[in-house]
Amino acid sequence: MSLSLLVVIMDKIIQQAVTLLRQGEVVIFPTETVYGIGADATNSDAVTKVFQLKGRPLNHPLIVHIADIAQLNDWAKDIPEYAYALTKQYWPGPMTLILKAADHVSRVITGGQDTIGIRMPAHPIARELLKNFAKGVVAPSANRFGHVSSTTAEHAKAEFGTAVKLIIDGGPCELGIESTIVDCTQKTPRVLRPGPILIAAESRQDKKDIPRVSGSLEKHYAPQTPVLLLPLQTILQKIKLTQKVAVMSFDIFETNHDVYWRQMPHDPAGYAKKLYATLRELDELHVGEILIEEVPQQKTWDAIRDRLTRASHKE
Ligand code: TXA
Ligand code: MG
Repeated sequence: MSLSLLVVIMDKIIQQAVTLLRQGEVVIFPTETVYGIGADATNSDAVTKVFQLKGRPLNHPLIVHIADIAQLNDWAKDIPEYAYALTKQYWPGPMTLILKAADHVSRVITGGQDTIGIRMPAHPIARELLKNFAKGVVAPSANRFGHVSSTTAEHAKAEFGTAVKLIIDGGPCELGIESTIVDCTQKTPRVLRPGPILIAAESRQDKKDIPRVSGSLEKHYAPQTPVLLLPLQTILQKIKLTQKVAVMSFDIFETNHDVYWRQMPHDPAGYAKKLYATLRELDELHVGEILIEEVPQQKTWDAIRDRLTRASHKE
């Protein structure tokens, strides 16, 4: 198929998505981080559908996605200078800002809070969709509440089946983990969820006064199979005693035991890109446990360590 024909087809699909959004329907689309399950942010019924489809509690706020920095003022007020500076540096891209919500913004989106999450994604399909729709689109990650995020259209299909009318297939997501979330409601920025962009801001330390972030629930991004995060030595000892086990590690070893090894990249970007697909794949093997080698302590691994810690959290 010629490239120009593909472009025509994608244009048609995007037009179809815009029509569905205008009708108050839900559409799944790719972003550079993970797939999003989107709805018209100005239509409370449509927004409610997203909560229902995900099985997400109503007090967990959604992110509004925009096509242009000029749309910020439609959604937020009292925006500090440093927040504008962050948008200039990182938008479009994998960064979500938490700002004071404009007065008219539906509290259905914000989970009843006075703050709102806003992101301007970089993925060309997401950008075209947002540009053509011309209004904000709420889009949490396209997975059922607490599950692993989707980084391919197939993952999203596995999560929602036919409950969603349109899933736009943009291939595997380039980054593979969710955006960095920065709280911009205080005097200085604070990272609430580490992500692909390393921002030199104080990370959350004090859990008491952080805005509600569902990604901050201890158990999240989790497969059905129990996940254990362990040093390599412990994994090597453990696999001798366990039958049918899955391992994600930086190097793989010869064993005569029943082990499904998955070798993970040594660089955080490469690791992030494969993380969720690998978790899903291993989950489908229905083994007793997924053993994951601990990742380095460096800051560049913060976002991945965060997701692995949550995936392995025991209730
Ligand atoms: O990369 C991403 O951010 C993806 C793509 C689709 O854009 N979206 C995403 O959305 O990860 P979601 O809903 O799965 O995670 C967004 C997080 C949630 O944990 C939510 O609680 C938090 O952002 N959040 C949204 N609005 C907030 C607010 N006003 N205050 C605090 N946290 C907020
Ligand atoms: Mg999510």
